[in-house]
Amino acid sequence: MKDGYKEGTIYSNDEISPNIFEVILEGDFHGIPGQFYMIRGWEALDPFLARPISIADIDSGKLKLLYELKGRGTHIISKLKKGDKLSLLGPLGNGFDLKEEGRIAIITGGIGIAPMLYLAKNLPDEVDIYSGFRSNAYFLDQIRPYVKSVNIATEDGTTGHKGFVTELFEPSKYDLVYTCGPTPMMEVVIEMCKGIVPVYASMESRMACGIGVCLGCTIETTRGMERVCKEGPVFKGEEVVI
Ligand SMILES: Cc1cc2nc3c(=O)[nH]c(=O)nc-3n(C[C@H](O)[C@H](O)[C@H](O)COP(=O)(O)OP(=O)(O)OC[C@H]3O[C@@H](n4cnc5c(N)ncnc54)[C@H](O)[C@@H]3O)c2cc1C
Ligand code: FES
Repeated sequence: MKDGYKEGTIYSNDEISPNIFEVILEGDFHGIPGQFYMIRGWEALDPFLARPISIADIDSGKLKLLYELKGRGTHIISKLKKGDKLSLLGPLGNGFDLKEEGRIAIITGGIGIAPMLYLAKNLPDEVDIYSGFRSNAYFLDQIRPYVKSVNIATEDGTTGHKGFVTELFEPSKYDLVYTCGPTPMMEVVIEMCKGIVPVYASMESRMACGIGVCLGCTIETTRGMERVCKEGPVFKGEEVVI
């Protein structure tokens, strides 16, 4: 396609938990953990913008994405069936720095779990994952084979600890932390880790172009304003201005 987008064919598109969908696409896909694709599931000019979605996994060239129903874009994608096409641009962004050894914690909130299967598969076994959800937990059954322990918190107590995921996690037990989720949760993780353990955070932002041109996705860092789609989405915790 002339704007750099390429086609992916839907192999499956299933609701794996209320409002949470997993789509698997056939095509020629590559990328590292923490990178994302801009996705368009519509031909019309409205909605105009593609949506950023993280790589949840790449296996035998098939791309897996996990997405939460939010607004028009994700609703349109959720209606697509096997054999339908999606337009994709990517892989984009910097991705996570992968550490080979040491004690590693992954902390997620809600749909922030999306990039963590592919990350866990590319890390050594000594990884503990801490995942927080409002209510039902999801996707952890796929991550469990690649980690040492799974720790769950739900706000309503449906599964695991009743409360916030940050109440379960002790930074001093780890040599490195990866986090993805709502900005307020990641800010708490960054504050907890300050001076104790390095943390990599995959930051959220509204995106328009996804390729560093529109400057619509900038966040404040210690180096000045930086683009989540280009310099990020992964930033060192100490670089993020809270
Ligand atoms: C690098 C990156 C990776 C992402 N990976 C995933 C992923 O793997 N799975 C997933 O479900 N979502 C992911 N997101 C968020 C996802 O892009 C938005 O939820 C999506 O664009 C919403 O599109 P929509 O058309 O359904 O909703 P819209 O109609 O565009 O918005 C609906 C609501 O969601 C809010 N919203 C939209 N985009 C964002 C955003 N980026 N951050 C916070 N709130 C937002 C809007 O303010 C609005 O209230 C990612 C975002 C970024 C920046
Ligand atoms: S989305 Fe356009 S610069 Fe990042």
